[in-house]
Amino acid sequence: MLTKAKHTLPDGTRIEDLFNLDTREVSLSTMHDPDLYRIEMEKIFTKSWLLVGHESEIPKSGDYVVRDMAEDEVIVTRDRQGDIHVNLNVCPHRGMHVCTAEAGNTQVHKCIYHGWAFRPDGSFVGAPLEKEKMHGEIYPKEKLGLKKAKVELFHGLIFANWDAEAAPLEEQLGEMKFYYDIMFGKTEGGLEVMGPPQRLTIPANWKTAGEQAACDGFHTLTLHRSQFDIGNFGSDGEVTEEFIPIMTGINVADRGNALRCISAAQTFRMLIGKEKFEDLTVEDRLRKLPPPGIVTDQMKEEMFKRLSKDQLYVASMAPPQVGNMFPNINILFIYAPLPDGTLGSGLLMHAINPKGPDKFQWVTWFFAEKDTPDEVKKAMRSAAVQTGGTSGLIEQDDSDTWPHMTDAARGAMGMTETLKYQAIAGEKRPEGWPDKAKVFAGLSKDDAQWTWWLQYHKVMTK
Ligand code: FES
Ligand SMILES: [Fe+2]
Repeated sequence: MLTKAKHTLPDGTRIEDLFNLDTREVSLSTMHDPDLYRIEMEKIFTKSWLLVGHESEIPKSGDYVVRDMAEDEVIVTRDRQGDIHVNLNVCPHRGMHVCTAEAGNTQVHKCIYHGWAFRPDGSFVGAPLEKEKMHGEIYPKEKLGLKKAKVELFHGLIFANWDAEAAPLEEQLGEMKFYYDIMFGKTEGGLEVMGPPQRLTIPANWKTAGEQAACDGFHTLTLHRSQFDIGNFGSDGEVTEEFIPIMTGINVADRGNALRCISAAQTFRMLIGKEKFEDLTVEDRLRKLPPPGIVTDQMKEEMFKRLSKDQLYVASMAPPQVGNMFPNINILFIYAPLPDGTLGSGLLMHAINPKGPDKFQWVTWFFAEKDTPDEVKKAMRSAAVQTGGTSGLIEQDDSDTWPHMTDAARGAMGMTETLKYQAIAGEKRPEGWPDKAKVFAGLSKDDAQWTWWLQYHKVMTK
């Protein structure tokens, strides 16, 4: 049984008191407080749709992978009917992890402790020595299955939610679904993962990475400076001490979900020559500089059919590339110029799984459109690993800061400091941009990121 929801920490602090909504400040103590963490587990992580994988990871009947929903391990399975299930990896007998492997194929998950067995849909098959009734006579077999989460697929991404009453995933995505469709739903074949995800543990509070993913733009200039100094992202020599082209773009946000849409012409000015990119038709722009991952003519044609007119417009002007899904997903579907300067891309997603107030598991999936030629997939995977993988240049920069912030939040004085989101530009929708979500065009300021905290505030004080 979960403890009863509270808005108040044991020392009497109300969750509302951790925020100053007028000056847009959040107490740094939020990045460490163990009591707040317990409330987050209850109010956020057992009630939100969480990403646990992609259906291409378990293509066949009986396939499974073991994943995490915050601190809970789950078995993500496919049954004989092709349906996907997400079952708690905890044996209802005495609490052993039923599955101790990371992935595999089986129609029967048998607990190694006393041998209770479960089907891919989580239902209880039985225990050894059937006649002796190891499972007793108090509960019928139907009551002894693994606990199950609700499951929804979004363009092949598998989301799970412990809350049986949860509203559909679409509600959590809000107006941002329009943009996520552009990222994940462009081709007939859809996306597929390239290999198992990378996983590592980072000694930091999950929110350090979670809120950064909601379009923290300013850190590009300093923390990621070296990326641009070595010419990792094109930009045609426009990088200066004070400016990096991809700091400008169009941030879009709704319900704590945020994405930065960045003009392809900005990254690939060298590929479009002297032509005025804006003067081309939507189709011509998309043929010349398609969104990241669209690498064949066939895919371009499919994209024209699958996306709406407004979505094609966005994809042609400034496709969404970097951002998040509330609460704990980081998305990088980025252009990554190849060594010869031509169009390249890397598609990856991270899940930030809390593992205590000052530890999280950082999971990284690498994607390509299924119909991508093999040699291009290889190049995409290298580009993604090199930038956003465990050893990737971008994520090494970012993960340098998160443990420091968490450490700082522990100090008696440190915890009295605040996080400030005071660089606000306000909503600005460029002419022709569709009326979807909140739109912040121009230099990426704190607007989108603040909406992440507003959503956190809303969920935590509900
Ligand atoms: S704990 Fe799993 S069978 Fe006993
Ligand atoms: Fe970053």
